[in-house]
Amino acid sequence: MTTAPSRSADAAAEIPALAEAVERRRNFAIISHPDAGKTTLTEKLLLYGGAIQQAGAVKAKGEQRKVTSDWMELEKQRGISITSTVLQFDYAGSTINLLDTPGHQDFSEDTYRTLAAADNAVMLEDAAKGLEPQTRKLFEVCRLRRIPIFTFINKMDRPGREPLELLDEIEQELGLACWPVNWPIGSGDRFRGVIDRRTHQVVLFQRAERGRQSQERILSAEDAAASGLVEPELLQAALEELELLEGAGADLDLEQVHAGELSPVFFGSAMTNFGVRPFLDAFLELAQRPTARSSSEGPVDPLRPGFSGFVFKLQANMDPRHRDRVAFVRVCSGKFEKDMTVQHARSGRSIRLSRPQKLFGQDREVVDDAYPGDVIGLNNPGMFAIGDTLYVGPKVEYEGIPCFSPEIFAWLRNPNPSAFKSFRKGVNELREEGAVQVLYDTDPSRRDPILAAVGQLQLEVVQYRLEHEYGVKTRLEPMEFTVARWVSGGWPALERVGRIFNCRTVRDAWDRPVLLFRNDWNLNQLREDHPELELSAVAPVVSGVEPIAL
Ligand code: G4P
Repeated sequence: MTTAPSRSADAAAEIPALAEAVERRRNFAIISHPDAGKTTLTEKLLLYGGAIQQAGAVKAKGEQRKVTSDWMELEKQRGISITSTVLQFDYAGSTINLLDTPGHQDFSEDTYRTLAAADNAVMLEDAAKGLEPQTRKLFEVCRLRRIPIFTFINKMDRPGREPLELLDEIEQELGLACWPVNWPIGSGDRFRGVIDRRTHQVVLFQRAERGRQSQERILSAEDAAASGLVEPELLQAALEELELLEGAGADLDLEQVHAGELSPVFFGSAMTNFGVRPFLDAFLELAQRPTARSSSEGPVDPLRPGFSGFVFKLQANMDPRHRDRVAFVRVCSGKFEKDMTVQHARSGRSIRLSRPQKLFGQDREVVDDAYPGDVIGLNNPGMFAIGDTLYVGPKVEYEGIPCFSPEIFAWLRNPNPSAFKSFRKGVNELREEGAVQVLYDTDPSRRDPILAAVGQLQLEVVQYRLEHEYGVKTRLEPMEFTVARWVSGGWPALERVGRIFNCRTVRDAWDRPVLLFRNDWNLNQLREDHPELELSAVAPVVSGVEPIAL
């Protein structure tokens, strides 16, 4: 008599396939300041993956979009990009997941959360501008998570700052060591290409009309000089600088790269598609594969046979025809399969995932399977919250995603008491989705919520969505605070210090004390008066507790 193979034998048989899928996967997000060229670079990367057929497809804004929701209408009106999407494409035997992030800095909270799902980050700089405020902020988030950072210095076809100066700025200001993988020959009008540091080959930049692609031509340094296309003094200067770098620096240490301590640096011009392919090839070679993630049970290896993942983003009304809500899940271990029944760690419930989706920009299709490093979209009838873990097999619960310090605060008033039910539903759902943070007065009789955001536009989107999706017109009453700090020891720690001045105490959605200050000066004053009070700019992660609803 033959017996059916056991489940564990099935699982063991799956491991080589799983290992192969993990080995193929690369996942990254681009961090940059608006206008550095993120959209342009994304588009060129997708062209290599064959994921889009023509330049301009990613930038297609407004009417060209197939699916446009109400608040994407707002994006159209303002010409900004608020939503983030996931773009998956295959290139050179790898499956690449590009976690796209909103372009506008007012939505950086959304970017922070997306970075929690990223294994690598590409820091994109404009060669003329160097480090810019938004890049610095996002870099700090990467640093918190020790995400490997690849640097792409863009717009080399235009006059820019000295390459050595740009690297020095990164090293000095961010404390991030740099390892140039290629080195530019000349700059601006006299930009002639780059030298690959490892092969010493020259990739020639051929100037084309604006918007046209530079054809790729690779030569040895001698041939480049002989070709007459590169002025000998420029080539000589670049080779000398390379020599200097080699004299000063050690080898490219992958361990340091993966620990987020050393950044491979590339020079190029996304608009002319110069340096993008060499960057992509080197990135595939050097980037971190999906790795073990911290959880309540210690690090979880991606090769753990049971599926597990966490929700890093919620988005409502992506498709206004269905009024749906989607939870984006980063797969961390095992193979995910359609129709799988998984455990929801926070509630302890079992859920069958019958219509998981793969998202590509605004398009979606039902996905049959997914592997660590991938992102899937799940329909979310209000069950999932940001940070929730889903798993199969022995229980795991991933570390939650912290909330970052908001900088803008306003009372949200509902002038029409008969609309209170819709108001409450809207505020609760938008908070769950992470569209905005919600704080409450310590006096329970003052029921109006305080909205706390990173940027003003975030508040506008909340008001707009409350009106268009929930049918409630609201009024915002700005508060004069600009800084929020969580009290590490909670209410008891706050009670121990007694009365405090020049700040306002409020509660967050988990009933934890948050102090609001007008400015850093007031914050520093409190620190001086009460050095024993431990304050944090990042909200401690909560798990297993239901938030306060309005
Ligand atoms: P973002 O998503 O980071 O905000 O930047 P985006 O790609 O939209 O690029 C911002 C501007 O910089 C665009 O010009 C784009 O064409 C230009 N740009 C991007 N990469 C390069 C580059 O390598 N070299 C040069 N010279 N320019 C580059 P725009 O005038 O705002 O838009 P468009 O008219 O070109 O579409």
